[in-house]
Amino acid sequence: MTSDTETNTMSQDMVETQTETTTAPDAMTPSVTTIDEPSVQTVSDMPHRPAWVEIDLVRLGRNFQIINRDKPPGVQFLSVAKDDAYGHGAYQVLNIALAEGAAAVALSTLEEAVRLRERGIRAPILLLGQRQESELPWCIAHDLTCCVNDSHTAMKLARLAAAAGKRVPVHLKINTGMNRYGVGWNEALPLVEEICSTKSLLLEGVMSHFAQSDETDKTFARLQLERFNRFLRDLTGRRISVKYRHLCNSGGFLDVPQAHFDMVRLGIITFGVYPSSVCRRIPGIEAVMSVKARIAAFQKLQPGDHVGYGMRYTAPSPRRIAVLPVGYGDGFPRVRNLGFALIHGCRAPIVGGVAMDATTVDITEIPQAQVWDEAVLMGRQGNDEISVHDLARLKNTVSYDVLTGWRQRLPRVYLKSPQAP
Ligand SMILES: Cc1ncc(COP(=O)(O)O)c(C=O)c1O
Repeated sequence: MTSDTETNTMSQDMVETQTETTTAPDAMTPSVTTIDEPSVQTVSDMPHRPAWVEIDLVRLGRNFQIINRDKPPGVQFLSVAKDDAYGHGAYQVLNIALAEGAAAVALSTLEEAVRLRERGIRAPILLLGQRQESELPWCIAHDLTCCVNDSHTAMKLARLAAAAGKRVPVHLKINTGMNRYGVGWNEALPLVEEICSTKSLLLEGVMSHFAQSDETDKTFARLQLERFNRFLRDLTGRRISVKYRHLCNSGGFLDVPQAHFDMVRLGIITFGVYPSSVCRRIPGIEAVMSVKARIAAFQKLQPGDHVGYGMRYTAPSPRRIAVLPVGYGDGFPRVRNLGFALIHGCRAPIVGGVAMDATTVDITEIPQAQVWDEAVLMGRQGNDEISVHDLARLKNTVSYDVLTGWRQRLPRVYLKSPQAP
């Protein structure tokens, strides 16, 4: 019995040959069937879907520059890039943030931090939240700065650092009223002293977090600031100084200048999105993310015809419908007969229910629309815009959730040069 495998003679940059052996009818002489090579090699060579998230890196860089001009010169900024930089792509965002002067980076999971280290991000990384003990050796090995909230974790970190022959920086989280992480503002001194008397730890920062900094009513923000200041006075009383005292997120940065201290932690504002409708505006800041799709098909409806699952739309008159190959499986809100897309700068109302992979829009009033024309689901087109906040209202949620809610199956397309208006 012989067995045979065809030798692949294709060029080196082709992918591995797939060779399939089938059994011949007499079961004695195997025959070999070769499946033809695809003409493309890897997923990255494939044409991307006609639906995508577009990230304008030029606008992102400009936002950082504008923020840098707006903030007092002595105040550093830390780029908050958790959840893949709010869906924008942490690696791409951080390369720009660091080039524009970010003093450090904040993330929330160990995995995202290690992945960024593996891709060559060498800047200081502050890991927000609470670490499990099993994560601490990884933090030390990858030079990640932990927020510490309790003595047990701090001392475990200290022992591991000492064993590794390192002195590791930590930022102590003070709970001033958010009541998630941190040690109470009026009971933190014993932990401060414990950290300061431990050789393998360096108290590099003390921090707190606003529960409500972007609303008109700043009563609670002022109370948190007052508590943080009381804690800082206690530190001064003990002659303890730290490099970074930080309390502000974007809302605090915009509206509570007394709380800027040494560093501000900026997330959403750097992406050109304001944390609320009432906080201070900085002229020139622009949204960095858009979501787009191309028209994949048309339908002509007669009066009485329906569209999509559940027949939720009935044409009152002859209508022309465009199908956009994007849906709630991509993170678009699961709405019915609500919202619109922009096509040729005009509003095309959504008709019927948004499905997992398809959204239908009425383009009767946009006769120039052609198949594969671009539609904007979030962002600007012509003189009109669908903002993150518009989608947040449709989804009954907040802008943060919309930005981070676009699924990974939507390719990210990065614009690196200025776009024509
Ligand atoms: C501790 C901490 N600081 C700062 C930020 C950044 O907030 P923002 O995106 O509002 O600037 C976050 C984000 O949630 C956070 O958890």
